[in-house]
Amino acid sequence: MTTPTIELKPSAHPLPEAEREALLARPGFGRHFTDHMVTVKWTEGRGWHDGQLVPYGPLSLDPATNVLHYAQEIFEGLKAYRRPDGSVATFRPDANARRFQASARRMAMPELPVETFIEACDLLVAQDKAWVPPHGGEESLYLRPFMIATEIGLGVRPANEYLFVVIASPAGAYFPGGVKPVSIWLSENRVRAVPGGVGDAKTGGNYAASLLAQAEAAAEGCDQVAYLDAVEHKWVEELGGMNLCFVYGDRLVTPTLTGSLLAGVTRDTLLSLAADLGYRAEEGRVSIDQWREDSRSGALTEVFACGTAAVITPVGRVKTATDEWTQGTGEPGEVTLRLREALLALQTGRTEDRHGWMHPL
Ligand code: COI
Repeated sequence: MTTPTIELKPSAHPLPEAEREALLARPGFGRHFTDHMVTVKWTEGRGWHDGQLVPYGPLSLDPATNVLHYAQEIFEGLKAYRRPDGSVATFRPDANARRFQASARRMAMPELPVETFIEACDLLVAQDKAWVPPHGGEESLYLRPFMIATEIGLGVRPANEYLFVVIASPAGAYFPGGVKPVSIWLSENRVRAVPGGVGDAKTGGNYAASLLAQAEAAAEGCDQVAYLDAVEHKWVEELGGMNLCFVYGDRLVTPTLTGSLLAGVTRDTLLSLAADLGYRAEEGRVSIDQWREDSRSGALTEVFACGTAAVITPVGRVKTATDEWTQGTGEPGEVTLRLREALLALQTGRTEDRHGWMHPL
């Protein structure tokens, strides 16, 4: 694997400070982008080359570019946080880099070296450091690395050219309500992924496939859709864009990685962080009947969604085609809030990083 150098070609016209500050005051999620982006090309026989940090701007693509037709695309999501001393650090970029490689293998794409992935993120964050929101809140700079097949032609086969890009966007809460509990629509007739499919790859098609069910969830008055497994239509897998975690008192259960779920970095982090806080945290299978019955009996005390964008978001209500229930008290649960605070304290540098997860710039 070649490790290309990344040449710096900064913008002569970054956004004026006052405009940037206004955007940072109310960033929303994924609406505004920083002054720069990193691009690296891959060509068959040559490997990775032409790494550049350039002004943020449109990509020019021929209408016959392979990705536009056959969706050979993968992406990642990770965040950079401002620490109390004003410095900046990203959270577990190595984990995202390795998952990016796993997604590339599944989608028959070239693997980007872990060090190039991290270097690209580091260079972009260093260049656009002023875009990392101030310490003190939950805001961060969300990084979106992605790779697309750029060969021109309509043949269905792995492309012989690719483009890796990293862009960055200041981010507030993913859900407009912040830590306000979300409602879940349990989709019993649509599935997100099938065994042997691409459910464990972070590829755009999984998200496109979730949009109709997400629209159905919205029509049912719910914020997010939860999927069951595609074979027995029984086992809870994940939400449209984040993992789930079930809290039974002091025991946490997150659905086992069966191959059709995404191996979330936040999910993995919480398995360790929960144990640090004295909870038992394990992977396991939770059926929809169990979810319903354990909620009604009170054994299942809390449920939350977790992901880079979602952080930890409590679930307050669940609706299916036949019934509906309030999750726990309907309010954010104690365990959910404690884990959320512990995670954010670690990420924003307010507590010691005992696991070596933070990557200072
Ligand atoms: C992330 O959490 O980083 C994702 O890619 C999920 C998406 C719903 C924004």
